[in-house]
Amino acid sequence: MKNTFGSALTVTLFGESHGSAIGVVLDGLAPGIEIDDALIRLRLEQRKPRKGTGTARREGDAYQILSGAYEGRTTGTPLCLVIYNENQKSGDYESLRTTPRPGHADLAAEEKYHGYQDMRGGGHFSGRLTAALVAAGALVEGALNQLGITVATHVLRMGSIRDDALCEENAAVLKEKPFPTISDTAAEAMQKFILAAGAEGDSVGGILESMIFGLPAGLGEPWFDSFESVLSHALFSIGGIKGVEFGAGFAIADMRGSEANDPFCFKDGRVMTETNNNGGINGGITNGMPVLFRCAVKPTPSIYKEQRTVDLCKKENTSMKIEGRHDPAIVHRAAPVVSAVSALAVADMLTVRYGTDALKVGLRK
Ligand SMILES: Cc1cc2nc3c(=O)[nH]c(=O)nc-3n(C[C@H](O)[C@H](O)[C@H](O)COP(=O)(O)O)c2cc1C
Repeated sequence: MKNTFGSALTVTLFGESHGSAIGVVLDGLAPGIEIDDALIRLRLEQRKPRKGTGTARREGDAYQILSGAYEGRTTGTPLCLVIYNENQKSGDYESLRTTPRPGHADLAAEEKYHGYQDMRGGGHFSGRLTAALVAAGALVEGALNQLGITVATHVLRMGSIRDDALCEENAAVLKEKPFPTISDTAAEAMQKFILAAGAEGDSVGGILESMIFGLPAGLGEPWFDSFESVLSHALFSIGGIKGVEFGAGFAIADMRGSEANDPFCFKDGRVMTETNNNGGINGGITNGMPVLFRCAVKPTPSIYKEQRTVDLCKKENTSMKIEGRHDPAIVHRAAPVVSAVSALAVADMLTVRYGTDALKVGLRK
């Protein structure tokens, strides 16, 4: 029952949605990393529910670093970051002890923790915990940026609304700071799509697309700790992510070898590939091209429509109507979470390859 990710730079996530606080412990961080407070706040802001389409739960998300930092820089000892919960409303969730929500973790948690789990607001399984992940990821992202590595995630598709404005080819937009999770062109249509589902007591999902730029070639191991394995391990830790694909992804199955192979070429004295169907990874190891991947985010499981479930006490089938505060879509809110866990996974793999100090002094060639 371990809640820790990483080999050389580890992140442990703790807390419950309606407990006193959520937080992370980062261990294996290089000493001397400047804590970019503005970046952490920006990412936390991007994760917050939006007015209109978001849950009514409003949290300040002010973070505190309890250890592992001194005078604005990491010390290299375990860094504990907490965010205190302020806006709990627990009464809404008591009935979920006996009638688990379809699509959520209530039944699975009951089986694993034998009824001792904190059910309030989804407890340890709540999307609320992703705020702590985002803060930890942004802290590490600041260090990666110093090394010339950037991570960007945007909503690629919701229903039939596809947003190509922020795709890989559009390098000018990718340099924009802060990188928008939804482009201005798609925002209105996507918001309408979310609100229409919400008005019916339902929810919608979508696809996130991410790019990691500036990675050195040579990260990742050939088999079990391949770059894809470590990154998707981190990505699948996020509640609601049900699919991850790299490069051309599932579409590569329908290509011919002559199309799927990315031809090599020299550009500015560097070996590059002409296309990126393999997502910047060959043999489990980065090849120096941008790492390109997409995540399928499911519709929010807590919907207000009546649903079929079971009564665990009476041992009979029943139906339920969920109360509480939930977003009709979590796709856009999951975007900074995807970037955050990607930053943590990349930082871990850099630390494995170059040692703890790599994140600070940039030992990469
Ligand atoms: C940022 C974020 C916010 C979320 N908010 C909610 C929510 O308000 N209601 C809900 O039912 N699920 C929400 N989820 C999804 C659940 O956490 C997730 O579906 C649940 O833990 C079960 O995990 P699974 O979908 O991976 O099986 C959220 C997820 C994320 C990433």
